[in-house]
Amino acid sequence: MRTNELRAFASKALTELAARLRPAVNASAGADQALRTARRIGDDWHQNAYYDDAEKYMNDSWTRLIWPLIQDCDFSAVVDLAAGHGRNTEKLRQIAAKVWVADINAENIDFCRARFRGDARVAYAPCDGVSLTGIPDGAVSLLYCFDAMVHFDSDTVRAYLRDFHRALRPGGRGFCHHSNYTLAPVGDHRRNPHWRNFMSKELFEHYCDKEGLRVVRQQVIDWDEAKSLDCMTVFEKTRAS
Ligand SMILES: C[S@@+](CC[C@H](N)C(=O)[O-])C[C@H]1O[C@@H](n2cnc3c(N)ncnc32)[C@H](O)[C@@H]1O
Repeated sequence: MRTNELRAFASKALTELAARLRPAVNASAGADQALRTARRIGDDWHQNAYYDDAEKYMNDSWTRLIWPLIQDCDFSAVVDLAAGHGRNTEKLRQIAAKVWVADINAENIDFCRARFRGDARVAYAPCDGVSLTGIPDGAVSLLYCFDAMVHFDSDTVRAYLRDFHRALRPGGRGFCHHSNYTLAPVGDHRRNPHWRNFMSKELFEHYCDKEGLRVVRQQVIDWDEAKSLDCMTVFEKTRAS
């Protein structure tokens, strides 16, 4: 082979290799971006005064909003996603055989470890912000998330729904309290009422459908003075894979 032919051969081979690697490189860049977005929002919740303040509203939220929607669910293996300081876990552990505490912030996991020390029903699953790291496939009967997903970016919501499908048992359910705020499709969500991120009742159902999750019921709710700001959705895993 002459030098020119060798050069042309090498150049063609390199171009083909680059084309073959590009989807993997793009996917990895996309995954990094998704983690960064989740991390940015997770960083709003380090040692926030919110936790002590929110504790006193838990009984009312549980009785008035949450329990009527989830009372027919299976509580044998529950995940409390974005658990914070565990005010929901406290309620769930009274009726569940097992509760995993999951949160993006390690100090919240540590707080809950101390709060629930000695309770063998409570386990801990620090997560990466877009998936249920450490929760085995098909292990979960109820995926629970209250007063946290309302702040998540829509990409984060979609990523979690995909992973919920992996972690849920067939017939397992999810209960998510999410935003129903669509008036600011761009910009910093912290400028929106109660820091709600862009999401709607309909978009959430659309994402559920794409991830093999069937919506069982949805309820639009007010949050303080803000009318119809949020939605609570119960969904069920329908597809086996
Ligand atoms: C407003 S607090 C709510 C805590 C708890 N759910 C409650 O009702 O008290 C928001 C929580 O979401 C957690 N968080 C934020 N982004 C997250 C993410 N992408 N994945 C998991 N947890 C996240 C924060 O660390 C914080 O604990």
